[in-house]
Parts: sequence; structure tokens; C-alpha cells
Amino acid sequence: MKEKENKKKSLKRFLLGRAKDVVLLYLATHYRPLLKFVSSKPSEVSIKVTQRCNSRCITCNEWKEKPENELTTKEIEDIFHQIKSLGVEIVGFTGGEPLLRNDIGELIEKAKKITGARVYIITNGILLPERAKTLMEKGIDYVSVSIDGLPETDTKIRGIPRHYDRAIEGIKILRSVSKDLKINVGTTVLKPNIKEIPQLVEICHNLKVNWFFNLLDTSLYFFQGVNIDGLLIDDEKTIDEFIDYLYLINKEKPDVFMSNMSPIVLEFARDYLKNKKPKLNCVIGYFRVFVDSNLNIYSGCWALPPIGNLKEEGLKEIIKSKKYKERVKKMFDLKCPTCTCGYILSCSLNNLPSTALFALKDPKFVRFEH
Ligand SMILES: C[S@@+](CC[C@H](N)C(=O)[O-])C[C@H]1O[C@@H](n2cnc3c(N)ncnc32)[C@H](O)[C@@H]1O
Ligand code: SF4
Ligand code: SF4
Repeated sequence: MKEKENKKKSLKRFLLGRAKDVVLLYLATHYRPLLKFVSSKPSEVSIKVTQRCNSRCITCNEWKEKPENELTTKEIEDIFHQIKSLGVEIVGFTGGEPLLRNDIGELIEKAKKITGARVYIITNGILLPERAKTLMEKGIDYVSVSIDGLPETDTKIRGIPRHYDRAIEGIKILRSVSKDLKINVGTTVLKPNIKEIPQLVEICHNLKVNWFFNLLDTSLYFFQGVNIDGLLIDDEKTIDEFIDYLYLINKEKPDVFMSNMSPIVLEFARDYLKNKKPKLNCVIGYFRVFVDSNLNIYSGCWALPPIGNLKEEGLKEIIKSKKYKERVKKMFDLKCPTCTCGYILSCSLNNLPSTALFALKDPKFVRFEH
């Protein structure tokens, strides 16, 4: 019930606040001069609250780096105050591993109180059994837990024995405290785990949590240079079977996905996995802002360099600046290394009429989380 009301509220806020920009962005994909009428008004700010990581994932470099810096509680609180004046609807905590922070509960509480936004966290789940109750008590709205296969495969990819068990244990605690909390399991689809996905989806379904997939990326600064030998799916038949399976799940068990997957999104995934990079205008810069552990600001893109720093300028000032506007246009034109971040949003906006038709049939498609 509460979830339904929240969804309605979000839809209303979205339509009132961003409908004009959404339509203009779509039109700009056909007639670019219209881009100058679109405002960069982020609805989501994601903060890298730590660079530390307790995992050893073979797909990611974060754990290999020696963290240079970590934001203090006070610095993050200052960011919340700056976010407040922007009318942001979603604040996310990512890392590194955000649950490594002992003040994570305090951060969630303050984020909600100061910004009024909904708050989510992306975690590897290793510390979830210890932290689950705190997250709930402090009012977290959405938890995404990364699991990369059934136990044996997950251990190979994540590099930590019992990662799978701990993540599942944490999810069970969250679910036992609240049946309404949005919980998602995120899996990066790889050669070693693609065939296990139906079993993993079944497990998620039984745990009453959603499941979603990431597409392997090597462009974001913390994924660059990872060794992808043996990770790419080189067999087209396996890819087709996987995508066809997702179509089937969409139909038969629509509750598995937080938002039903439109054919546009699934076909993008099929092409991407087959190494065909479909050309899309990237619209992420118009919706998301990222902050890293050095107070650098990114225009919703971890693959391009930062566009400002909060030690030198305010968040609003950066977002309203000419350089920011130029950057989001550059992103729109795909003058970038390209990546799979936010591809659902870009796919949907580049194909707005068919997305709208799909969403009319199934309002669940309107997706608000990361
Ligand atoms: C960088 S992690 C940060 C949050 C947390 N440490 C975690 O693992 O969930 C964010 C997400 O990126 C996913 N990921 C890791 N390596 C990736 C890669 N090379 N391409 C795409 N997604 C990746 C992770 O599985 C996780 O779901
Ligand atoms: S994906 Fe997450 S858990 Fe894995 S190394 Fe990267 S930051 Fe750490
Ligand atoms: S597609 Fe390009 S501009 Fe968009 S987020 Fe990825 S790297 Fe950045």
C-alpha cells in the first residue's frame, strides 16, 4: 500500500517537474538545437561515501586502490544541505563499500531529514547481517545488494568466500523487518554466471526481492583495465536464450523486476552483450550528479573527468555553470568513452513514444531508483 502511494507521488512529482525536459530531450534526439532549452536539473545525487572496499571483485578495481581520502560525516552533511536547495528526489550511497562506514546509519537519517529525498544504498552485502537493523531503523528506502551468481561462482567473481551467504542472510534480516522495503539483487551478467541466472532469479523471487542485471563495463574510472578474459559471453545462442528468458520472466513473474523491462531495454542488452554498441544519446547528465570522496563533482558520469569541486564552488553553482551545461551536451552527443551506466534511462528517453506506450500498459515501468 505504502509502496503504491510512494509510486503515485513519484509519478506526479516527475510529471510536474520533468515532463517538459523529458519531451524536449526526446525531441532533441531528432532535432539537436532543442537541447538548449533543456535544463540540467538533477533528480538524483549519488555520493561515493568511501573508496574502501572489503571485497575482491574481479570486475572492479576499487579494492586494489589505497584510498586517498574519505569524506567526514560533517562534509557529507554539508552536501545534504546543498542538495536540499536543488529539489533532488533521490540520494544514493555508493562506494567502495558504503556499509564499511560506522556512521552509515547517521548518514541515512541525516540525508532523509535534511534533503527530504528517498535514500538508497548499493552494497556488496558482506556487512549486511550486522547493519541491516540500523538501515531499517534509520529509514532506508531502497537497498541494492550485489550478488554475482550461485555460491561457487559468486565466490570466484567476488573473491570472498561466503560473500553469497552473508548477502543472503542480510537480505533475509531486511525482509523480516519489513515486507515493504524495496530490495534488489544486482548481478553483473558474465560468462561464468549467465546460465545460473534463472536459479538466482528463483531464489530472489522466493525471498520476495527484485532482481536486476548490470552489463559489464570497462569505461568508468574504477573499472578501467580490469582483466575481462573469460568474462565476455562469446556464444550468441546463450545471449539470445538469456534475453528470451528475460522476456518470459517479464510476462510470467513481472514482480521479479522492480520495473518491467521494455523491449527497447532488453534489445539494447542483447546488442550490447553481442558487442554491438547501439548509438544512443546519453541523457544521464540531465538527471544525475555524482560526488566522490574528494568532493569532486561529476555530471552523472564516472567515465569523464570531474566538472568541479565542492571545496571551490557550491553544488548549485557548478550545476548552473556554463561548463556543466557544455558537459551534459557533450554527453548527449556521446563524446565520451561510452558506458552502460543508466542505459535504461537513455534507452527509454531515446525511444520515448514506445516507452510511453509500454508504460501506459504497465505503469510499473516508470523507474525511479538508480
Ligand atoms: C562499484 S559497485 C559499488 C557498490 C558496492 N561495493 C557493490 O559492489 O555493490 C556498484 C555496482 O557495480 C557493479 N559492478 C562491478 N564491476 C562492474 C563492471 N565492471 N561493470 C558493470 N558493473 C560492475 C557491482 O556489482 C555493483 O552492483
Ligand atoms: S564491485 Fe563493489 S564490492 Fe566489488 S570491488 Fe567494486 S566496490 Fe568493491
Ligand atoms: S554513455 Fe558516455 S556520457 Fe553517458 S554516462 Fe556513459 S560514458 Fe558518460
